[in-house]
Amino acid sequence: MNEVPARSKRRTVGRARLLAGGVVALVTAVASVAMATLAHADLSGPPGTTLKAAAERSGRYFGAAMGGDRLNDSGFLTIANREFDMMTAVNEMKPDATQPNRGQFDFRAGDAIYNWATQRGMKVRGHTLAWHAQQPRFWGSLNGSALRTAMIDHINGVMGHYRGKLYAWDVVNEAFAENGSRRSSNLQSTGNDWIEAAFRAARAADPGVQLCYNDYNIENRTYGKTQGVYHMIKDFKARGVPIDCVGLQTHFTGGSSLPGNFQQTLSSFAALGVDVALTEVDVTNASSSQYQGLTQACMNVPRCVGITTWGVRDSDSWRGNENPLLFDRNSNPKAAYTSVLNALNAASTTVPGTSTPSGSTSPSTPNDPGQPGVCTATYRSAGSWGGGFQGEVTVSNNGSTTLNGWTVRMTLAGGQTIVNVWNGANTGSTGTVSVRNAAYNGSLGANASTSFGFLANGSTSTAPGDISCTSP
Ligand code: G3I
Repeated sequence: MNEVPARSKRRTVGRARLLAGGVVALVTAVASVAMATLAHADLSGPPGTTLKAAAERSGRYFGAAMGGDRLNDSGFLTIANREFDMMTAVNEMKPDATQPNRGQFDFRAGDAIYNWATQRGMKVRGHTLAWHAQQPRFWGSLNGSALRTAMIDHINGVMGHYRGKLYAWDVVNEAFAENGSRRSSNLQSTGNDWIEAAFRAARAADPGVQLCYNDYNIENRTYGKTQGVYHMIKDFKARGVPIDCVGLQTHFTGGSSLPGNFQQTLSSFAALGVDVALTEVDVTNASSSQYQGLTQACMNVPRCVGITTWGVRDSDSWRGNENPLLFDRNSNPKAAYTSVLNALNAASTTVPGTSTPSGSTSPSTPNDPGQPGVCTATYRSAGSWGGGFQGEVTVSNNGSTTLNGWTVRMTLAGGQTIVNVWNGANTGSTGTVSVRNAAYNGSLGANASTSFGFLANGSTSTAPGDISCTSP
């Protein structure tokens, strides 16, 4: 299998940044690894007696989806706290919830779930940023470049709020049709590159979080839709479009069931160099054999990092009439629960990078004494399309003392106009422009770095010239 272990992949990312941005960038890369790190694997330990303990033996997680109304449901919370170590918000981090009106973000419902989960040591998957459904109402009156800009603004706004806090984001959800072509939607109508534009913006907005594509009916390797998603990820990897993971929703409800080639599907995605995760599992009548089979398939694929069920009890399910979850309406575990637990405990592969060979140590932070107060800026193209481009500027403190505020100056080529800046505030949009730090990223410790991004219109994507950084 042509697989790139997760830890190696992240080291490769670190090396690329090292070349571009100097030793300081490695600090950012190390921090990113720390945030996305899963449980330490130890297959020699005793079997886990909860879903999360059993999953953690192999460096994996076991998650559930919860709606905000479940925060007042003690039956739900008791099981969730005991059994799960990853949470996904059912609706509360979706575009209509997080940006009800243009420029007015509302994170109260999402934060309530985030806070409940993280206060109990769980990680959180963000769901979702760009989707044809549950869009902000104002997107309905936009199209073309205006809608594209609104999508990018949304990604920046939401990911900026959760920057550094989440394990993964479902950046794009359900963008393919059953036959493997793109699903028609208002986002698709902005141009076929809308998915990669979303992923590039996402990387710039939060460089440390795992960026996933998420979809249903992609569990059978030979199915048209699975092939469509597979070829998109392959193309993204070949062209350097940032993508870290694919989420297979794994709804074996509504007439679907576990395909015989499920494990091959997982390993073929993994062989493209992405993590795979089962993100919204439910199974009609909680068939033990299907739950056992899907869990075992994941355990057999090293880069299958975790499983999330779409709810906890049947009473939490969007398809409750199919009784598809691991706990019944009285909070009792079903036979399927035991089959999942056993399959988790029987895992023979661990997630790459989660086992520490005996005698080895954790990566250490490079120690570069540097010079006091040295601020540098490095430009990187994050993509271009007919009539525009996206840039990312990494701002680094090469010194040994903290910088309090920074300003980057750069000169755009003729005809280029900045239309949007995130993680910074610009003065001027043509010719020589300056970008000052945002309120939350002006303080840069010794050897630390941050980045801002921008979108520009223009007939060329020539990189800005005369780029410099100053700090008061
Ligand atoms: O909150 C309102 C409530 O005020 C109103 O009275 C009621 C009347 O219908 O609607 C409530 O909103 C509903 C919301 O769930 C909260 O319950 C929406 O109508 C309903 O459409 C919405 O459904 C969600 C669905 O996504 C929408 O696409 C489901 O809860 C949620 O489980 C489901 O999740 C999706 C994943 O995001 C993507 N994959 C498929 C999965 C299942 O459909």
